[in-house]
This record gives sequence, structure tokens and C-alpha cells, in this order.
Amino acid sequence: MNTTAQQIADLRKSYERAELNEDASQADPLRQFDQWLTQAIDGKIPEPNAMTLATVGSDLRPSTRVVLLKGYDARGIVWYTNYDSRKGQELAGNPLAALQFHWVELERVVRIEGRVEKTSGQDSDAYYASRPLDSRIGAWASPQSQVVSGRAVLVANAAKYGAQFMLNPPRPPHWGGYRLVPDEWQFWQGRKSRLHDRLRYRIGPDAGWIRERLAP
Ligand SMILES: Cc1cc2nc3c(=O)[nH]c(=O)nc-3n(C[C@H](O)[C@H](O)[C@H](O)COP(=O)(O)O)c2cc1C
Repeated sequence: MNTTAQQIADLRKSYERAELNEDASQADPLRQFDQWLTQAIDGKIPEPNAMTLATVGSDLRPSTRVVLLKGYDARGIVWYTNYDSRKGQELAGNPLAALQFHWVELERVVRIEGRVEKTSGQDSDAYYASRPLDSRIGAWASPQSQVVSGRAVLVANAAKYGAQFMLNPPRPPHWGGYRLVPDEWQFWQGRKSRLHDRLRYRIGPDAGWIRERLAP
């Protein structure tokens, strides 16, 4: 081991950049998210749209991976992927999932939970068409999450599909978007002395959002 337990124990940081309180936060969590994401983008945070997606398999074993947010509005949070991947298979069996953004430089985390649905074929087509050619071919070339005998398989697949489709690959049937429809949001702002701010939004009986503070 190159790192000692003491070195790890000594890794700590005081969070003092900002605060999040009931008065200054938005009543609608989507607006709060929009504000924080905009600040992350404007602040040149690396990969501000990278989010961890957690799913649960039919064996109740959870798994996570990073995906890129590609759209968000009142309908939900959208990303694109391979429907046959591990996450795709897990979502087919259990559509409940969670997303997490960690904007380290802003000392902020957003957690989102809800039910996942596929985006329309039209939406997936439109986003697929907007991708660079090598990414479009890559969606054909990579049997995502499956064991391959070596990298050469992927390179050969890319060459094969590149020759087959030339400049106009169609969207693969196994590739498209998912949308998480949030029923719970949580916004975390790091504060001094570990007294962090946490605001949770959940849907109340009248379908409006209830905002509550959680202990850090
Ligand atoms: C910054 C970053 C962004 C990523 N974005 C995506 C994405 O948008 N879609 C995707 O399918 N995989 C994306 N990946 C790869 C996934 O993290 C993961 O390796 C892949 O989706 C397979 O996951 P699974 O086997 O759990 O289904 C990204 C990885 C990183 C590090």
C-alpha cells in the first residue's frame, strides 16, 4: 500500500463556499437544479453533466455507473445508452433508479430518485443524429457490458459497421434514451463544522413539492 491509513484519516476539508436555505432556494426543485447546473457550467466545472446512475438488479444487487445528462425539463432527466447493457437490463426489471451529481468545486451534491422510462424513438433518433460519426458507429460496434475477447473485437466491429453504413448509420435498435421522472430531489451544500445544508423535495398529497431540511 502506498497510502497509509493515517494519510487517509487526515484527508478532510472544511466546506465554506456557500449556503442553501429555505428562503433563498427555489420552491420547484427543477428550477433549483437548473440554477445549480447553470452555475456548474458557468463555473467551468469539469464534466458538469456527468452523473452517477444507480440501478438495482432483479437479484436486489445495486450497481452504479457514470452517464451524461443530455436533457432535462418538467418531464424528467434524460441520458442515452445501450438498452441491452447491464443498466438497461436492470431498468427493464426494476424501473426505480437514482441519480447523483457531485460538483466537487462547488461543494454541492444533487440526488434525484424516481421511475425510469424510455424516451420516444423520435427523441432518440434526434439525439443520435446529433452525435459525431465515430460515436454513432461506436453505438453499433460496442456490445456494451458484454465480455469481449479483446480490444481488437471492438476495432474490427467499428471498421465493419463503418464500411457497412458509411456516413449515415441508422440508430441501432438497442440504443436510445432513458428519462428518470423525479419523485424526490435532494440538494446538499457543504458547510462549516460538518453542519451541511440539505434540502429534500418530495411530492405531497396535492401533487405539489414539499421542501424539508434534513440533518446532515
Ligand atoms: C464521464 C463519463 C460519462 C459517461 N457517459 C455515458 C453515457 O452517457 N452513456 C453510457 O451508456 N455510458 C456512459 N459512460 C460509461 C458508463 O459509465 C459505463 O461504463 C457503461 O454505460 C456501462 O455500464 P453498465 O455495464 O453498468 O450498463 C460514461 C462514463 C464516464 C466516465
